[in-house]
Amino acid sequence: MMNEILKSRSSSLDNYKEFTFSDSSKKDEHQVTIKILELPGADYGTYIWPCAPILAQYVWQNKDLVRTQSILEIGAGTGLPGIVAAKCGANVILSDSNTKPLSLDLCRKSAELNGLKNVTVCGITWGEVTPTLTQLPPIDLILASDCFYHSKDFEDVIMTMSFILHRCPNANVWCAYQERSSERSIEYLLDKWSLYGHELPLPSMEHWTSSYDSHLKHIIRIYEIRIKMQNKVY
Ligand SMILES: C[S@@+](CC[C@H](N)C(=O)[O-])C[C@H]1O[C@@H](n2cnc3c(N)ncnc32)[C@H](O)[C@@H]1O
Repeated sequence: MMNEILKSRSSSLDNYKEFTFSDSSKKDEHQVTIKILELPGADYGTYIWPCAPILAQYVWQNKDLVRTQSILEIGAGTGLPGIVAAKCGANVILSDSNTKPLSLDLCRKSAELNGLKNVTVCGITWGEVTPTLTQLPPIDLILASDCFYHSKDFEDVIMTMSFILHRCPNANVWCAYQERSSERSIEYLLDKWSLYGHELPLPSMEHWTSSYDSHLKHIIRIYEIRIKMQNKVY
């Protein structure tokens, strides 16, 4: 179950949304509550997009798998899915573009607000091979929430995924994608970068009380992306 309560405070960096993740609607079930800072209106990456709670819920429902993993979130914005993964026990790197210090700062502060010592934050700009990218530790899972929104950036996002996946061939990507046009497709680019993707079942939203995303979940998909193995038919 996930509840969302907007907490409004006087100063902007005290503006946070609170999300509670639990295994069922029963009060005594295991649950965690996460606070995510937002700066609405400042930039694309300073508020929580509808894909993020859905990917975060997917992470929560797979917490037994992710808790031992080393996870990188790209285009993290405010970092909700990655912070849920860290709360489940994963070692998490939250990243956003080098040119987006506000997002990187929000990620750092949200990690602190949630008492997380297993989160680091760094700048990774899609399509750029920088020392930060080449010096990443081995990664098990890449999270990407609503990173495919400007078609001009699609190849850069996929290039960054491909770079990491080819260094860590057993890793995979969980990517939440909002359908904005039926004419958009990443199939060709996945193929070009020796990757393949398939759709994963959406997480259960049975007890979800959040109002803004209940209708949007019909146009949100979660995909898993992996490297293509030679001689395997897809
Ligand atoms: C639609 S927002 C999604 C934010 C967040 N993942 C979410 O779902 O709430 C896209 C994110 O991609 C980041 N971004 C945009 N261009 C980027 C680039 N070239 N490299 C890395 N991140 C980028 C933005 O700063 C923003 O955080």
